[in-house]
Amino acid sequence: MIRYAAVALLLLALSITAVADARNVLKLPSEVADFFHPKQSNDAGDDSVGTRWAVLLAGSSGYWNYRHQADVCHAYQILKKGGLKDENIVVFMYDDIAYDEENPRPGVIINSPNGDDVYKGVPKDYTGDDVNAKNFLAAILGNKTAITGGTGKVVDSGPNDHIFIYYTDHGGPGVLGMPFGPYLYADDLIEVLKKKHASGTYKSLVFYLEACESGSIFEGLLPEGLNIYATTASNAEESSWGTYCPGDNPSPPTEYETCLGDLYSVAWMEDSEIHNLRAETLKQQYHLVKERTSNGNLAYGSHVMQYGDLKLSLEDLFLYMGTNPANDNYTFVNENSLRPSSKAVNQRDADLLHFWQKFTKAPEGSARKFEAQKQVVEAMSHRMHIDNSIKLIGKLLFGIEKGPEILKTVRPAGQPLTDEWECLKSLVRTFETQCGSISQYGMKHMRSIANICNAGITKEQMAEAAAQACISLPSNSWSSLHRGFSA
Ligand SMILES: *[C@@H]1O[C@H](CO)[C@@H](O)[C@H](O)[C@H]1NC(C)=O
Ligand SMILES: *[C@@H]1O[C@H](CO)[C@@H](O)[C@H](O)[C@H]1NC(C)=O
Repeated sequence: MIRYAAVALLLLALSITAVADARNVLKLPSEVADFFHPKQSNDAGDDSVGTRWAVLLAGSSGYWNYRHQADVCHAYQILKKGGLKDENIVVFMYDDIAYDEENPRPGVIINSPNGDDVYKGVPKDYTGDDVNAKNFLAAILGNKTAITGGTGKVVDSGPNDHIFIYYTDHGGPGVLGMPFGPYLYADDLIEVLKKKHASGTYKSLVFYLEACESGSIFEGLLPEGLNIYATTASNAEESSWGTYCPGDNPSPPTEYETCLGDLYSVAWMEDSEIHNLRAETLKQQYHLVKERTSNGNLAYGSHVMQYGDLKLSLEDLFLYMGTNPANDNYTFVNENSLRPSSKAVNQRDADLLHFWQKFTKAPEGSARKFEAQKQVVEAMSHRMHIDNSIKLIGKLLFGIEKGPEILKTVRPAGQPLTDEWECLKSLVRTFETQCGSISQYGMKHMRSIANICNAGITKEQMAEAAAQACISLPSNSWSSLHRGFSA
């Protein structure tokens, strides 16, 4: 019976998410007018370039999040083939995937159904608990003394250098996940980018960001004039998507019960790896990736956005990624030579999909089936607990009618989620003290918590409401007792 209840819950959750996301498809609140024309490629030659640096970070752990580390490994391989040196590529990955007992090919990670191993040779600069927001920011700033653990590799860049930063994981409004310690909040990231600019240690910087609501990290926050060009997998209000998932077309080999990549991430990487990057601009790639990630404007896609100094997008990808000499004769063709739209999976449902695959494929009556069932039920009940607690807190603070309205308010395009970042972090801790970890799923509620700050609620009022809403702290694997605070 429990099994059928779990099935029903899961199907319900998946269909609700699909419907909710379909509504967002035509909204483009933070799109920027597109008035640049592609320039003819002018091969400025290698000597106009300082050193190319890269920072790559996968913010998750756990086999059900296979795809984020697969993305980062793949990005490393592209940069390496492009000519970047290991000493200039700083890699953050938890490194629990290749040898996870669920991995059907031990020691191998793939990022597409027929893809080669992307794990081999990846530098393990920061693994395990060293993958955290503090180390990531210190590595960008080039501040070795602020690093704890790892190899100590940082972006030790000079004024003529170009920096490429690529992050992939779960996120939420104003926040990016980390496998260890507090999440990374948009204000701290922007502060570090400003500091890096002020230190005069780069010529220009490109940031590719995959996460749910990733537009919210830059929207209204990243100013022009820092010589930074950023693109994000989604706008400030929508999910981003996993791809090459079981049941997708193309689907991973049958022995994989997890998604192999993320839609925006594989879109830029599969584009970069087949072109002469001296002859393709960031802008050309942006349009290609945007088209592929919108997934034919179906319910399974998101709006790729761009922020910062858009004029930088006229530069060639070569400045940041180098280029693979084997592609010298493959110049840019202005069409998506890539795949037709696929049935991508919402980032936030990919864990359920994994547990579900595991459950349906495990032999009847096996310990594995029992374990998978427990995982589905725990994840689902955690979701309901978080959703209900937030809703109830809203009603306790603002009343039955106004509560839901205030929680889902979205500020006008071009404005950040909040101006009260310290309040946001403090209310996240307050919530978690009473109600347990918001965890990777609960990051979707960051806008609600930010709105509680925007409405002027104090920490004490929040603590009182949370204590009423959450009578006991959950003790399962999603509890903050085990996971620490997210802020
Ligand atoms: C580097 O980090 C240390 C430790 O956090 C800090 O004291 C120092 O001011 C930082 N240096 C620079 C140049 O930002
Ligand atoms: C590109 O084309 C030129 C001229 O046909 C040829 O000499 C060269 O070997 C080709 N390069 C690659 C990497 O295939």
